[in-house]
Amino acid sequence: MDRPDALDRAWRAVRAEAERLRPIHLRELFAADAGRFGGLCFRLDDLTIDLSKEKLDGQALAALVELARAAGVEALRDALVAGEPVNLTEERAVLHMALRGGAEPPAGDDVAGTLDRFLGFAEAVRRGEVAGAGGPVSDVVNIGIGGSDLGPAMAARALSPDRDGPRLHFVSNVDGAHLADTVADLDPARTLVIVSSKTFTTLETMANARLARDWLGPHAERQMAAVSTNLAGCAAFGIPAERVFGFWDWVGGRYSLWSAIGLSLAIGIGAARFRAFLAGAAAMDQHVREAPLARNLPVLLGLVGIWRRNALGWPTVALIPYDQRLERFPAYVQQLDMESNGKRVTRDGRPVATATGPVIWGEPGTNAQHSFFQLLHQGTDVVPVDFVAAARPRRADPEHHALLLANCLAQGQALAFGRSAEEVEAEMTAAGRSPEEIARLVPHRTFPGDRPSTTILFGELDPFSLGRLIALFEHKVFVQGAIWDVNSYDQWGVELGKALAGALIPALRDDAPLAGDASTRGLVGRIKELKG
Ligand code: F6P
Repeated sequence: MDRPDALDRAWRAVRAEAERLRPIHLRELFAADAGRFGGLCFRLDDLTIDLSKEKLDGQALAALVELARAAGVEALRDALVAGEPVNLTEERAVLHMALRGGAEPPAGDDVAGTLDRFLGFAEAVRRGEVAGAGGPVSDVVNIGIGGSDLGPAMAARALSPDRDGPRLHFVSNVDGAHLADTVADLDPARTLVIVSSKTFTTLETMANARLARDWLGPHAERQMAAVSTNLAGCAAFGIPAERVFGFWDWVGGRYSLWSAIGLSLAIGIGAARFRAFLAGAAAMDQHVREAPLARNLPVLLGLVGIWRRNALGWPTVALIPYDQRLERFPAYVQQLDMESNGKRVTRDGRPVATATGPVIWGEPGTNAQHSFFQLLHQGTDVVPVDFVAAARPRRADPEHHALLLANCLAQGQALAFGRSAEEVEAEMTAAGRSPEEIARLVPHRTFPGDRPSTTILFGELDPFSLGRLIALFEHKVFVQGAIWDVNSYDQWGVELGKALAGALIPALRDDAPLAGDASTRGLVGRIKELKG
């Protein structure tokens, strides 16, 4: 199918807007429009998204909204919600929204009953009715990787003030050190191990599950549970059916936190808070379904991403939560975004016409300020920043929270407005520095500014707001995938490495002969020499 004219026109209009705005400094955009913040700041209840420090204006945003319309974002969203097989390469529906009441599940799939069942199990663990050989469960170890790890691990850390159940631990890496270090101080008679794997075949997870079973020893049978779509695999591993919790192939791994993959989290925070977490996501689902494109928060975030990536040509995004408990959020969004939209062909298999998913990375502020922010302020590349912060602290010193937020806002200011050579000169003159010294130091102390950021702000980080925040990013990824016309719901790019690793294992373990390239054969040989 050829790209329809309307879509080409919309892209051309967006690019023309970018050329109009490219030479205009953010300082000038603010100076020219006293109502800029009001015009470019969007809200859903307490959730507030400030786009005014992005290098765009109302006219550019209108062109972007037109692009979303021309790309058929609304039709694809409706197809997603209706359970059509939008994951074309795997011929599957994409219905993670149905896990939280944001869409209808396919007929016959008992989402509500499964939720009740795994939350019932979580509560039984919390009450001590499901216990270890040595007493009530004190620790839960979730074994999983990718979407079967990052979601619950991130959310458990984010909601640590809400945890009133057993301690939660997460083991993902096939490096045996991960499990060894995690269980070093745990009591195998009071630890519940949950094996979380959609396929129940993932090499890392199955290797760690076997190691954990050995560590549990005689307690393995009563103290292991599993979450998977592969019920036969769980049974073959020896996990009794009453401790196996299923989900469905229409839940992608990186979208599975809302399913029983969230079991560890539910044991930590309890059923009521887990339901509040789902409700937060459902509120965002309702918003994305109902709000007009021009006021639809995930649509706007997605369009800003398109603007940065395709109109202005910036290949990376720094995601900086000013919240220590969101320290795993950048890693979570990395998988969500890069596994979804790191694609090079369109939904019908042709090379894409534009750049697709950006590189997402980040660390919490203020730590990041003392590591890589120097480059963001004065390096040669423009790196757009997404700031995320809560207005109110939870179980944390309020004065520290003021320091935290002051730093968050200051970074956005410094990036956008910088410090001109004239300002630096005036400041140094007032401080009594000599003209020679001023001339020597001004270039080093000047900040160009004109570097964009979006600030995402909300009341406080609780189960509801975390669910809503995650769903905001999920839908943003959807919007961008729709505009790029890629399938955001497969991940063939991770398969080749898995297959190649499989072929290398016998060579490393049993001295089996190895075919293939000289570098890899050379490295295998060197590993063997070093092992002795
Ligand atoms: O990394 C590829 C991937 O398939 C992810 O999409 C997924 O979240 C992860 O592996 C784990 O898969 P599973 O839950 O089947 O063990």
